Amino acid sequence: MSIFETERLHVRRLTLDDATFILALLNDPAFLKYIGDRGVRTPGDAQAYLLNGPLASYAKHGFGLLLVTLKPDDIPIGICGLLKRDVLADVDVGFAFLPEYVGQGYAFEAATATLAYGREVLGLKRIVAVTSPNNTNSIRLLEKLGLRYEKMVQLSPGAPEIKLLGLNF
Ligand SMILES: CC(C)(COP(=O)(O)OP(=O)(O)OC[C@H]1O[C@@H](n2cnc3c(N)ncnc32)[C@H](O)[C@@H]1OP(=O)(O)O)[C@@H](O)C(=O)NCCC(=O)NCCS
Repeated sequence: MSIFETERLHVRRLTLDDATFILALLNDPAFLKYIGDRGVRTPGDAQAYLLNGPLASYAKHGFGLLLVTLKPDDIPIGICGLLKRDVLADVDVGFAFLPEYVGQGYAFEAATATLAYGREVLGLKRIVAVTSPNNTNSIRLLEKLGLRYEKMVQLSPGAPEIKLLGLNF
């Protein structure tokens, strides 16, 4: 069941049945480099990640990272969604796509609809994003979405400083 759809994409909640896709996505070199190593190496690890991450977020906040699939055959290509982290005051947008689906505007399409969902359905007044300073693809996408650099932040003590961008609606 779609949460929303765009011209080319369906966006729906992740389930434990998406473990194989999540296993591939979380071990993609770009994911490991720019987001981090979540230590997910087996389908069982991926199910635990889903349970403790996106599924826990749906239960706690009513939103979270969602699965993006390509019409018309519903091929999973990435994740995109809203997160509420304890360490950040505002809800942030996150996304990651398999490398074969990067550079075709899918991330922009999914993220544009995600921001609209946050503003119109969830009633958010502001959305932020955090990204490593060297993740130029992500920064370019966030700026195209209208977010602007605000400050450097650390998500945990001793963690590297990363960029926080924000958009006020
Ligand atoms: C960050 C990430 C999601 C960006 O994805 P992306 O595909 O580059 O982003 P977009 O959807 O904006 O696609 C843009 C490119 O597609 C091209 N494109 C092709 N067809 C297009 C279309 N129909 N519409 C729009 N853009 C199109 C554009 O030219 C654009 O390239 P440009 O910005 O160099 O001009 C992706 O690189 C990724 O998954 N990285 C690994 C995970 C990650 O780092 N996530 C972010 C953590 S903060």
